[in-house]
Amino acid sequence: MKILVTGGLGYIGSHTVVELQSEGHEVVVVDNLNNSKIVVKERIVGISGKTFELLVADVNDTEALDGLFQKHVFDGVIHFAAHKAVGESVDLPVMYYQNNVSGLISLLGAMEKHKVSNLIFSSSCTVYGSTEVLPVTESTSIQRAESPYGTTKILCEDIITDYAKHKKFRSILLRYFNPVGAHPSSQIGELPLGVPNNLVPYITQTAAGIRKELTVFGDDYETKDGTCIRDYIHVVDLAKAHVKALEYSTKMSQNVDVFNVGTGNGNTVLEVIKAFEKASGQDLNYKIGPRRGGDIEKIWADTAKVSDVLGWNAQYDINDMMKHAWSWQIGLEK
Ligand code: NAD
Ligand code: UD1
Repeated sequence: MKILVTGGLGYIGSHTVVELQSEGHEVVVVDNLNNSKIVVKERIVGISGKTFELLVADVNDTEALDGLFQKHVFDGVIHFAAHKAVGESVDLPVMYYQNNVSGLISLLGAMEKHKVSNLIFSSSCTVYGSTEVLPVTESTSIQRAESPYGTTKILCEDIITDYAKHKKFRSILLRYFNPVGAHPSSQIGELPLGVPNNLVPYITQTAAGIRKELTVFGDDYETKDGTCIRDYIHVVDLAKAHVKALEYSTKMSQNVDVFNVGTGNGNTVLEVIKAFEKASGQDLNYKIGPRRGGDIEKIWADTAKVSDVLGWNAQYDINDMMKHAWSWQIGLEK
């Protein structure tokens, strides 16, 4: 298949381009380099041994998209391009709605005009909010989001669902749990700008001496060691789920389907730290601090549906995630 990947130079997009190419698909990327670097293209080509066309443009640029869809006959689109920082979205909500929601509408317009009917969309477990029922299945109810970023994901899911019903479109919504780690080659990984908000980049930067110490946000939750539980998923496993979803989207009977993408296992913050210490062979400088506002206590995925329907299961465990995250961090300093 020939696949358009929006945001294909970003963290999850770059790993997905590698997996698509390794499964024999042809890839075209559109990325405005808002949160990525052009060098990522060379890195991807270095891993896969295959080049691809890159258009440096904004998905909100309808003329640029139109030109791209005129030039290529796409069999499907994977839409990663979006802003993703929860805290920033609280300060800059309009920028988030503009980029994430208008960007999707612009893309759907181009797909409609050029009769491209398969879309894989990057959603998030954030749509479930804080839930008592664990693990969360795809039918767990969606809750009002706590941030404009979360709201953009819910809105985009709704827009795609309405659109797909109306247009006989095929779309898969992938609700990612916590993507972490990096490619085992250490050539591609996450490039957080400034001080990271997320746990794993904060851990690796602390171990590398860039941050003084990690603060564990609260150890008085109702969990086995008092720290919050998340379902961490290796980015390469997540990337592979997109290839499976894309292939399934060509044969599915309904217009929209939704899958959780996690490992099905929850880990506490302290377990992640222990796994990191084991993988890196060094002690991490950390302290216990107060709870972070807005954090949910625990969440992990029910992965029965993604396993049964897409035939996808995570291969990497938390030790692999930490090992690869650390190798990537070390490589960044060279
Ligand atoms: P990322 O920032 O690393 O990648 C996004 C890419 O899209 C970047 O290369 C950026 O330059 C590009 N981009 C952004 N806006 C664009 C626009 N208007 N036009 C063209 N390119 C644009 O983020 P990521 O972690 O790879 O996330 C990819 C997707 O997955 C996003 O939609 C994000 O919301 C979603 N998601 C991410 C996580 C996570 O923890 N990383 C979790 C759940 C969902
Ligand atoms: C965050 C986002 C969520 C997004 C997800 C995946 C928020 C409120 N939610 O979720 O929308 O889908 O990332 O990218 O930002 N932790 C520490 N110390 C730190 C950093 C984190 O103890 O310095 C803890 C947190 O309290 C949490 C866990 O580590 O328990 C994971 O945190 P983080 O990586 O920020 O992800 P989420 O909060 O799950």
